[in-house]
Amino acid sequence: MMKQIIAGVLISAGVLYGAEAEQSKGYTQAQRIADMQKMAQAMQDIQSGFFYNNVDIVRDGAKTLKATIVNVGPTIEEITNKDIYEQYMQNGEKMTLKIKRKIERRAQEVIDRFENGDAVQALQAYSKIAEQCMKCHVRLRKW
Ligand code: HEC
Repeated sequence: MMKQIIAGVLISAGVLYGAEAEQSKGYTQAQRIADMQKMAQAMQDIQSGFFYNNVDIVRDGAKTLKATIVNVGPTIEEITNKDIYEQYMQNGEKMTLKIKRKIERRAQEVIDRFENGDAVQALQAYSKIAEQCMKCHVRLRKW
């Protein structure tokens, strides 16, 4: 038991250290692509959860979505490119924050509604999330 706890703590520390090391280098394009793929998978999971009527799958997907969307923003390369960054600060920053907050809020709504047995409203919140994904892709993908 003790050994397991110690191993668990060591693994968590390793993961945290890894995450911090990544953070200090800034957000790379590879990380952003990985986050996007994670969110696309989470959206698929939520949808499967709806169809299989499985609250756990829905909850896991929505939680992953909430945890991942907070990372999204300009990459370190974009931040160090003066033109792109200026454009982002002028047009993109506010909108990005708004979209991110909406996705977080709707993801929580998906969980709450589905847990309460309101699948129709949960599905509606889900499609609002998809709308926000597309909004950023259409309007802000190049910031
Ligand atoms: C704030 C802006 C923003 C939001 C919100 C956003 N994306 Fe993206 N997405 C991007 C950008 C920028 C790229 C291009 C990534 C790159 O090449 O750096 C991208 C690319 C992608 C890709 C392609 C990844 C690849 O393999 O090339 C997928 C899939 C994706 N997004 C899914 C999603 C999903 C699902 C959501 C909503 C839950 C979402 N995105 C929300 C900005 C956003």
